[in-house]
Amino acid sequence: MCIIPRYVAINDGARMSSETIMIHAGLAERPRRSRWPARLDLLQSISGLLLVLFMFGHMFFVSSILFGETAMWTITKLFEGYFFFGKSYPWLVSCIVGAVALLFVMHAMLAMRKFPINFRQWRTIRAHAKVMRHEDSTLWVWQAYTGFLLFFLASAHLYQMFFWPHEIGPYASADRVWSDGLWPFYIAALLAVELHGGIGLYRLAIKWGWPNAPRAALRKVKWALTGFFLVLGLLSLGAYMKIGHAHRDHVGERYTPAWAAEQDAQREGRQ
Ligand code: HEM
Repeated sequence: MCIIPRYVAINDGARMSSETIMIHAGLAERPRRSRWPARLDLLQSISGLLLVLFMFGHMFFVSSILFGETAMWTITKLFEGYFFFGKSYPWLVSCIVGAVALLFVMHAMLAMRKFPINFRQWRTIRAHAKVMRHEDSTLWVWQAYTGFLLFFLASAHLYQMFFWPHEIGPYASADRVWSDGLWPFYIAALLAVELHGGIGLYRLAIKWGWPNAPRAALRKVKWALTGFFLVLGLLSLGAYMKIGHAHRDHVGERYTPAWAAEQDAQREGRQ
């Protein structure tokens, strides 16, 4: 975007207003370029970055199951306010899910501006990526595919977490993953979100020039991050499936560490 100064010195020191120059150059009628596309791009980048940072945290919390049922129970209870209020309030998790869902919807709406809107555009982009064999174009095509998938997969997951926050826990999550048969859904969501987020982070670095590193180095970091979170996600899913399989005859039973069960019993006894 070029900024025209209010006054421009012309030959022999005289000054002329930019408006006069625009008129003489026949540019006065031309509509000024709106700043909205740039502003919306910035909003899309910010919402995308926040969602990627959320997913980093989310995967670490979900993978706490790798340290055992009590570790995942503790993380779940932390978000339910158990250690602050002495009691669980699952609706606190719904508040977080609501905020993430708003951010997700905003990001998806902004991203739809860049989506190819008809078959001809899709064909052109795919042909371009094929002919050019340009890795960044191919990455963009994959980001569009995975973004499209996340419209459905992430929405379904957010809906479930928003309305059934009390159904999160070592046994409850494992029962959902195994006995409710959600593990194929989670594999698809994991692949989509990690590919989409990784490509998104790489494109943000290229677009905004931070960190200022060669593309090849940024790509290496991108694939390392994607690889790390895919492995972490698959290991966690494997753990939920293993627990869910072992727990298949007791679906609905909740996991509570012995000390917490005792505490809860005492509290109920006092009431
Ligand atoms: C605040 C919002 C969210 C909450 C509370 C949440 C909670 C959870 C929980 C408890 C699990 C463990 C499995 C289960 O209980 O069914 C899980 C798994 C998963 N979630 Fe979320 N989630 C949220 C947002 C998202 C978003 C926006 C995505 C993006 C697609 C996502 C993708 C996944 C994936 C891929 C898994 C499987 C993880 C694995 O492979 O082990 N989640 N989530």
